[in-house]
Amino acid sequence: MTIVLRPGTAADATACGTICYEAFKAVCTAHNFPPDFPSPEVASGLLSKLLSHPRFYSVVAEADGRIVGSNFLDERSCIAGLGPITVDPTAQNRGVGARLMQDAMDRSAQRQAAGVRLLQSGFHNRSLCLYTKLGFRTREPVSILQGKPLGLKFPGHEVRSATAADVTACNRICHYVHGFDRRAELRDAIDQKTASVVEHLGRITGYTTGIAFFAHSVAETNQGLMALIGASPEFGGPGFLLPTRNHEVFTWCLEAGLKLVFQMTLMTTGLYSEPNGAYLPSVLY
Ligand SMILES: CC(C)(COP(=O)(O)OP(=O)(O)OC[C@H]1O[C@@H](n2cnc3c(N)ncnc32)[C@H](O)[C@@H]1OP(=O)(O)O)[C@@H](O)C(=O)NCCC(=O)NCCS
Repeated sequence: MTIVLRPGTAADATACGTICYEAFKAVCTAHNFPPDFPSPEVASGLLSKLLSHPRFYSVVAEADGRIVGSNFLDERSCIAGLGPITVDPTAQNRGVGARLMQDAMDRSAQRQAAGVRLLQSGFHNRSLCLYTKLGFRTREPVSILQGKPLGLKFPGHEVRSATAADVTACNRICHYVHGFDRRAELRDAIDQKTASVVEHLGRITGYTTGIAFFAHSVAETNQGLMALIGASPEFGGPGFLLPTRNHEVFTWCLEAGLKLVFQMTLMTTGLYSEPNGAYLPSVLY
């Protein structure tokens, strides 16, 4: 199979989205887990947004003129977020994924990104081994949680919608927790009206771009994080991602009735420091 890589274009959304849906459906069904995307249309809709976003890099793999896979890199911050990477189930395990991964890693090296991060499905041996061979280190087990909105409030931890005026304070929290900020992601979420902040004693102590699969959150304390989760009207996509080692919040979620969907693994290359506070990664990191 001769593989040719090229940049993705808006016209690739349907073909790449169908492969994305089929690839996740095949591996998830084989392990008795629900697929990441409910339909080819939902997967194509997401990839269509990524293909037209000026700060997402995309690469498409073709074999004999037919699209067989794609990969994406979120370049909105100094750390790049990789994914979704998917290969047509009929073309898997023949090196296409490795080519798509190497291309994205070369791109982030060219742009001198401080690192690349991704979330890997914990049950998928092939992706874990592929990423490890390419230099990604396992950092954190992460649980996808889903269920009915909790409708819980914490006195003294007020949650409200985020506005553009909150960005500086939110960036400070993210910097405190992760060592860098994610201002472009936050601005996108404020524009899309999905971002919220939590205030304690008149000060912003945490924010979320949405309690959802494709969104991240940071807070100075677990109380702040639980207030953000408790106030969320829904958990978008397959669920939100909680570092499993955060025992206090994991136990609280389970006692509140949320269900574990499956485990993922946070993997990183380049700069990484242990987060200093409470956080929820997005499915990109
Ligand atoms: C994950 C995915 C993108 C990988 O693409 P692929 O084309 O199948 O993978 P490749 O053939 O390039 O590489 C697989 C590597 O894993 C290795 N591997 C697979 N299973 C392994 C195992 N159980 N133990 C050790 N190594 C293993 C293979 O030997 C190969 O490495 P090699 O090239 O050095 O021999 C593809 O399988 C896919 O689309 N899966 C479904 C969707 C998905 O899970 N996406 C990733 C989300 S995190």
